[in-house]
Amino acid sequence: MIEGKRVRIRALKKTDIDEIMKWINDPEVKQNLLMRYPISRNQEEKWIENAMDETDPRNKAFAIETKDGVYLGGIGLHRIDWEDRNAEVGIVIGKKEYWNKGYGTDAMVAILNFAFNQMNLHRVYLRVFEFNRRAIRSYQRCGFKKEGVLRDDRFSNGKYHDTIIMGILKEEFDKVQNR
Ligand SMILES: CC(C)(COP(=O)(O)OP(=O)(O)OC[C@H]1O[C@@H](n2cnc3c(N)ncnc32)[C@H](O)[C@@H]1OP(=O)(O)O)[C@@H](O)C(=O)NCCC(=O)NCCS
Repeated sequence: MIEGKRVRIRALKKTDIDEIMKWINDPEVKQNLLMRYPISRNQEEKWIENAMDETDPRNKAFAIETKDGVYLGGIGLHRIDWEDRNAEVGIVIGKKEYWNKGYGTDAMVAILNFAFNQMNLHRVYLRVFEFNRRAIRSYQRCGFKKEGVLRDDRFSNGKYHDTIIMGILKEEFDKVQNR
């Protein structure tokens, strides 16, 4: 378990499928995610099985739940590069009624703490669409800095949108934690 102040990050379970299917095809959630196409239960079951493969050194995916055990969504470190010591983080709070209550920021701080102080990573980065103001605000609060812009990188709802790359180094995370 990776403990945050308000959430717990735990291993994925096959039974998470029911909760995941409630949000995975919700357009309001999905427009913010890299995945674009409808996902079937079968496809998602396969994804969970792959994600549970602990022998994969490059990807680590987990579930986020409240301290009372309410499933909220997922978080993961991907493209882990053990030589350059960096990884891409992805997060989704699938239960919309839990948005804007601090759970996402808490989960992100918890996984950053784990990435830097347990996995010995040096840099964690992410991709976020420029229209996702909530996510950007949450990442800034964690200490992420804007590193670059991929212009017109994403086409959705009939328009091109920039993708923003944000990143945080271990020493920056330590400073934010000690503030
Ligand atoms: C992005 C996400 C993980 C954030 O988690 P969350 O629990 O909702 O966020 P938090 O409550 O911790 O923080 C949100 C912050 O954004 C602010 N915010 C909300 N809407 C905003 C907006 N339209 N513009 C600017 N700031 C906004 C909130 O006020 C809060 O900041 P504050 O704590 O300073 O008041 C979650 O909303 C989510 O999973 N969304 C759908 C999927 C997604 O976008 N994933 C990320 C893909 S990169």
